[in-house]
Amino acid sequence: MNIKDEVKKKYAEAARNPHGCDPISQNLYDASEQSSVPEGAVLASLGCGNPTALADLHEGEVVLDLGSGGGIDVLLSARRVGPSGKAYGLDMTDEMLALARANQAKAGVTNVEFLKGEIENIPLPANAVDVIISNCVINLSADKARVLKESYRVLKPGGRFAVSDVVCRGEVPDAVRRSMELWVGCIAGALEEAEYKRLLAAAGFTDISVEPTRVYEFKDAGDVSGRLMGAFIRAQKPV
Ligand SMILES: C[S@@+](CC[C@H](N)C(=O)[O-])C[C@H]1O[C@@H](n2cnc3c(N)ncnc32)[C@H](O)[C@@H]1O
Repeated sequence: MNIKDEVKKKYAEAARNPHGCDPISQNLYDASEQSSVPEGAVLASLGCGNPTALADLHEGEVVLDLGSGGGIDVLLSARRVGPSGKAYGLDMTDEMLALARANQAKAGVTNVEFLKGEIENIPLPANAVDVIISNCVINLSADKARVLKESYRVLKPGGRFAVSDVVCRGEVPDAVRRSMELWVGCIAGALEEAEYKRLLAAAGFTDISVEPTRVYEFKDAGDVSGRLMGAFIRAQKPV
């Protein structure tokens, strides 16, 4: 089985049985954010940050969430951009899309659309999106360079990349990289901080920054413990 099939299997199961709150995903949203979306979206939350809070969204903007899962960040973004804006969620896992659409129906928001597809092949035209958000997804991709190129393509000139992800300071040891369990758990695929910046620049982005939001201390993660972090990654497509 390849990485994509394993990732689909893991997140199909998570969608069927949403219970939230592993150490990476706990306490990311404040009470007012949690109460503004259906409980099912909060329970299904599997992120590592709060990109909507950090992304500086404006009324009327078009937002795309890469790997939207149960939809929490799409629903929060939809409120922020208002009825004149739009929030797209993109996910490859049918069970997650079904959950996200059910959460959308409960929330009663109409400026939202969940798309089925892969973040390596974004099903939107070029120059269509003001802001790309994502929450703990790009680390899962086996082709991150391609995800960043696709992000660049669909952003409008001047558009912003504003993504929460797991990154590593320094090398991820080979033994960790090779563990499928740690990969689908958002650890083994973490990009090294400098490599993330390099790939963003290679895709054409400017104004690149990586800001740690949380540092993880894992008992079983050997020498990556303390070097793995939830981070907020910003970049811009030049005007
Ligand atoms: C760790 S969960 C995060 C979900 C959501 N962003 C959140 O914060 O709750 C990862 C999600 O990304 C999706 N995903 C992973 N790799 C993907 C890919 N290559 N293309 C599209 N979706 C992907 C999975 O199906 C899953 O829903």
